[in-house]
Amino acid sequence: MGEERGLYIGAAVSHQALPADETYREILGREFSMVTAENAMKFRSLAPEEGRYDFRDADALVDFASEHGMAMRGPTLVWHQQYPEWLTEERFSADEISQILRRHILTVAGRYRGAVRSWDVVNEAVEEDGSLRDSIWLRALGPDFMAKAFRWAHEADPQARLYYNDYSGEGSGVKSDAIYLLVKQLVDQGVPIDGVGLQMHLVLDAHAPIEDMKANIRRLNELGLEVAITEMDVRIPKPVTPKKLERQAQLYSDVIQMVLEAQNLREFVLWGFTDRYSWIPESSPEADAGLIFDREFQPKPAYQALHDRLKAATAQ
Ligand code: G3I
Repeated sequence: MGEERGLYIGAAVSHQALPADETYREILGREFSMVTAENAMKFRSLAPEEGRYDFRDADALVDFASEHGMAMRGPTLVWHQQYPEWLTEERFSADEISQILRRHILTVAGRYRGAVRSWDVVNEAVEEDGSLRDSIWLRALGPDFMAKAFRWAHEADPQARLYYNDYSGEGSGVKSDAIYLLVKQLVDQGVPIDGVGLQMHLVLDAHAPIEDMKANIRRLNELGLEVAITEMDVRIPKPVTPKKLERQAQLYSDVIQMVLEAQNLREFVLWGFTDRYSWIPESSPEADAGLIFDREFQPKPAYQALHDRLKAATAQ
């Protein structure tokens, strides 16, 4: 989907489902032109034990992308969650933590140099109130941890596009403004940042207005930055009904239309593609059915809505 418009249409991939589910692999390889790692490239997944990296799951995904001529997004080099359990402030000084982070970024972005089109270098560093989120990285390196992370990532892979990525900053508001000011500061400092990832984890009937999203994308583009949609899903408050599935389809349609009209947006990535492996039921039990294929791998109205918009755009 989407290649005709120079648009990468992607999906986050479960490293557990990929080797185990043939239907999953078949649809993934047929329907998408980009993949991203739902968990396999997170620090804890790659380095569960101190001093040892296990790249098997991440390599399997990179190999799948390469075998299917798909582009690759890499999440996430620096995050306040899912870093290794052995990495504690009781055991390591601030300077040692800084060295560990630098080594991690150079190791991972260096290993996949040329294979990953864009990295989410820093993920979710801004709180809902616009303040910098407390994290082991902020405590050890100070606010400059982000500029350092981008510079290390650029050193490791000068060709990769380097993104700041976050949720609930898609439209207008305190958090969106704080993200804008953060990335503007990085741009003004000459930090090698190329774009902002809008995760687009939406709740049906309770999300930012599309017009606010368009305005936000425009102002980020005016900084000279790309924008990517990095983790889209639209969770439906239970009970899931045919009418709600139709409204979900309309929202997917509105977002992809916004993407197609945007000036500097080349990556539209879903956070999975089938409800069978979605993170939503576990994390938000009051909701379900956020993706475009159901648990039986049947396309939902949202799938058809995306296809119709992309087909219409290609026909223009
Ligand atoms: O792999 C281990 C397994 O060995 C262990 O037996 C099992 C039980 O503890 O846990 C497994 O790890 C889980 C991992 O997903 C892989 O399945 C972690 O506990 C679980 O916390 C982790 O959840 C992921 C979550 O990020 C936290 O990393 C979700 O699948 C993933 O969808 C979610 O994705 C995040 C993005 O990275 C950032 N943006 C928000 C998005 C949704 O929260």
